[in-house]
Amino acid sequence: MYGLVNQAIQGLVTDNFGAESWVKIKEKAGVTDETFLSNKIYDDSVTYNLAGAASQVLSMPLGDVLHAFGKYWVLKVGQQKYGTLMKSGGDSLMEFLVNLPNFHSRVMLIYSDIRPPEFKIEKTDDRTLLVHYFSTRAGLTDFMGGLIAGLAEMYQTTADITCVNSRADGHDHDVFQVVTQA
Ligand code: HEM
Repeated sequence: MYGLVNQAIQGLVTDNFGAESWVKIKEKAGVTDETFLSNKIYDDSVTYNLAGAASQVLSMPLGDVLHAFGKYWVLKVGQQKYGTLMKSGGDSLMEFLVNLPNFHSRVMLIYSDIRPPEFKIEKTDDRTLLVHYFSTRAGLTDFMGGLIAGLAEMYQTTADITCVNSRADGHDHDVFQVVTQA
């Protein structure tokens, strides 16, 4: 994945747990790079190793690390570094999610060699959406849950977010149900 993803893990760790934790995590993950370049593509194993090492060093379940990372991605990286792009997604949580299938095609204008996720959105009623998440990568379900939770916070919307189908349970993709309060 592009280095900005690993940079964001570094940001999440140093903002919340300090630079010393980051040094330990990097060492445990076997990462020798001094810094990550946002525009360079790193092997996915770097990202997975960093997440796994963060889980061990911080004594947090891996799923919690990935969920926190998803929220951080939207609320810090997205809003602070890509504000215009995030705003182009829509004026409400529901609108953003309805537009989500096209989002990474705009990201591709900046990061052309991205291997993006794919999404399909089903509206079941005025307050309820099903977000289908298709990925060529495994193990990122909780990251996706955290991203949706971050979007809900960004729009100051109370939403119940439930993973109703998951690849871990044998489905071919993950499905999240998002119900907003009336
Ligand atoms: C400014 C906003 C965003 C940028 C710049 C961005 C960029 C990226 C990049 C660079 C990757 C790594 C893929 C690669 O390098 O091959 C990625 C992956 C991913 N993005 Fe985004 N993204 C943004 C917003 C979002 C949002 C709002 C969502 C969903 C709500 C999302 C969902 C994902 C997921 C689930 C992955 C994991 C990739 C996979 O499943 O294969 N992203 N994104």
